[in-house]
Amino acid sequence: DHSLTTASRSPEAIDRIHFTRSYAKINLTLDVLQKRPDGYHELATIMQTIDLYDTLCFSLLDEDRVSMVCNRPELSNEQNLVVRAAQAIRQKLGLTQGLTIELNKRIPVAAGLGGGSSNAAATLLALQQWWQLPLSMHDLWEMASALGSDVPFFLSGGLALCEGRGERITPLAPHWPAAMRWLLLLKPAIGVSTATVFRKLTATDHSNGSWSQAAQTALQTKSELLPTDLYNGLERGVLEQYSEVAQARAAMLQAGAHFVRLSGSGPTLFTTFATLPEAAKTQYQLQKQGYEVYLTRAITTDNTEIAYF
Ligand code: C5P
Repeated sequence: DHSLTTASRSPEAIDRIHFTRSYAKINLTLDVLQKRPDGYHELATIMQTIDLYDTLCFSLLDEDRVSMVCNRPELSNEQNLVVRAAQAIRQKLGLTQGLTIELNKRIPVAAGLGGGSSNAAATLLALQQWWQLPLSMHDLWEMASALGSDVPFFLSGGLALCEGRGERITPLAPHWPAAMRWLLLLKPAIGVSTATVFRKLTATDHSNGSWSQAAQTALQTKSELLPTDLYNGLERGVLEQYSEVAQARAAMLQAGAHFVRLSGSGPTLFTTFATLPEAAKTQYQLQKQGYEVYLTRAITTDNTEIAYF
């Protein structure tokens, strides 16, 4: 007996296993407006889902608890956002049904790619779908924003303007410049704490949201979006504070990147190419030097189907 009392499906009708992907993001722009009384920073950022993903496998557990296992053992604990997301849903609906979550990480951790936030959103969406729960999009959004500033974006993904702490989402019509088709990501061999990066901001790092506004307009009017239109207010501080990131940036430029931007609070750097041969050549150059590099694309996704831009 599975006690899925508030679910509209009978327990017998529920598959014992459910599987989903959890995609990463990059930030095309990131304006830091000002620090708020609650300690968070007011942001305007344009985020885009990319085809780099973790997998999540959920199975029913005949006990009243949530357990998890992860291919990166250091992430396998009760504090993991996937456990907290599942617990938030169980609590909200008073469910006693237990589950086990197997998380297979491929997205680099503490990298500025939103991996943990994406995992949390994927868990909320997966339970909703798997157990056919009576939760509205607003319920999911509330739980998501309590789990972390970037989590709500991943409920819909694609291309979106994110404001407030990052939790206020305006979806943008899918559009991606052809000149930026191939995304090359480089993950320096360090992890970066988002909180530390925000703490080290100086006055000159703040902007009024105009970078994100201009990029939004360019994307919506399908006028050209150029590398010079991309901006990240956290980049200066990260490059200054972490020499590994500055070195990696120089290596990317040396290997053929036309520009380099930081994603989120880093340390992942990205560049773009119009053609695959160009991108692959630069990837090869960087891999030869021992760098962790990912060649990927921007996508729209509803978690079962993906479409490339
Ligand atoms: O919301 P989340 O827990 O993911 O944020 C991690 C940390 O990043 C926060 O504790 C805060 O220090 C910083 N942050 C911020 N302003 C934001 C988002 C995050 O200062 N908009």
